Amino acid sequence: MKKLSLILNIVFIAVIAVGAYKFIIAGSTEVADDGRTAILLEAGERDFVLGEMRLFLETVQGVVAAVAENDMAKVAELSTAVGMASTGGETAALIGKLPLDFKTLGLATHALFDDLATEATDIGDPTVVTASLGVLMENCTSCHAGYRFDVAGTGK
Ligand code: HEC
Repeated sequence: MKKLSLILNIVFIAVIAVGAYKFIIAGSTEVADDGRTAILLEAGERDFVLGEMRLFLETVQGVVAAVAENDMAKVAELSTAVGMASTGGETAALIGKLPLDFKTLGLATHALFDDLATEATDIGDPTVVTASLGVLMENCTSCHAGYRFDVAGTGK
């Protein structure tokens, strides 16, 4: 009996470990035909993250326009709106499907927008803000180069 409960315990721990690995580190992915890692989502989850992406692009557009007008208050306002305080709207199910690298890069991008807001407010130099935006946008381009969103079961 002792042996059986030991085996059951080991199986139980293994199941938890695999679950934790899938949920925290691996996510739900497959290699896509274009070589990128496809993150497999439900259609509604994909719509949600793509909506966040369009907000990122609208923010970058607004920031570039505001820098050109030397309107640092506007830069700070737009950047803060997509900063760390804006995160947390994802469901647990969605978070579990995103690989750890993806989550890390995504959160780092939100944090960099907060940094951009601080720079705009504290330094107020358009050249500095433009340079930081250029660095921040390496997160956009590197993530897009490595990942795409597919709807689970459709192959696209
Ligand atoms: C952590 C990863 C990640 C980061 C960081 C990231 N994106 Fe994305 N973004 C994606 C993925 C994945 C897609 C879907 C691409 C695909 O399926 O081909 C996407 C799609 C988009 C789209 C298309 C939206 C639509 O409706 O189809 C836009 C626009 C976009 N991103 C803008 C940005 C901008 C601007 C930034 C940086 C400020 C950014 N993204 C940062 C992962 C990321």
